[in-house]
Amino acid sequence: MRRVILYIATSLDGYIARPNGDTSWLHDERYSLEGEDFGYGALLQSIDTTLMGYKTYQVILGFDMPFPYPDKVNYVLSRSPHADAAHVQFVQEDATVFVRNLKRQQGKNIWLIGGGQVNTLLLKAGLIDEFIITYVPVILGDGIPLFAQGTPEKQLHVLESKSFRNGFVQLWMQP
Ligand SMILES: NC(=O)c1ccc[n+]([C@@H]2O[C@H](COP(=O)([O-])OP(=O)(O)OC[C@H]3O[C@@H](n4cnc5c(N)ncnc54)[C@H](OP(=O)(O)O)[C@@H]3O)[C@@H](O)[C@H]2O)c1
Repeated sequence: MRRVILYIATSLDGYIARPNGDTSWLHDERYSLEGEDFGYGALLQSIDTTLMGYKTYQVILGFDMPFPYPDKVNYVLSRSPHADAAHVQFVQEDATVFVRNLKRQQGKNIWLIGGGQVNTLLLKAGLIDEFIITYVPVILGDGIPLFAQGTPEKQLHVLESKSFRNGFVQLWMQP
């Protein structure tokens, strides 16, 4: 069965974006390490499909660059109808039923890009198989949480942890 992998970066206080959706703190100059991509290239090799919430899709569209995953099948979860758009398919059916069926289909793994709302939805439904969480040594104080407040407590097993010279710490976990 295909695995859903949540590969995402978070602040120390558990935010994936500032309250206005800004993620520029992730791309601060001080964090760049020559020749290091924090496992991103390997992740892209291992997947053929992405999943994202509509708000994350809007943020990606706002970046000043072409759509970043044109060679993948990209699904955007939304409760509202949307006109066809390049590179993505909008999922209008029940999102957890859709993802459960997607996992049963042939193919490579599935990258759950985020954001917080869809992370929470799929976590609660037990549909996330792997967590690769990169902790960035910054406290934002407020923002969009990795998982929404009120998410039920859950213990994860750490398979591996990696630390990087720029202060990033990455935990590889599974339920
Ligand atoms: N740090 C990182 O690495 C990282 C990675 C990814 C994203 N982000 C950030 O995360 C932020 C967005 O996170 P977010 O939590 O605000 O939003 P989100 O999870 O990206 O998207 C929320 C939207 O998903 C749809 N949705 C939510 N629950 C649903 C359900 N049960 N069924 C179907 N559709 C559902 C709804 O779309 P409709 O309103 O259209 O119904 C909802 O508005 C952005 O700022 C992005 O930059 C950061």
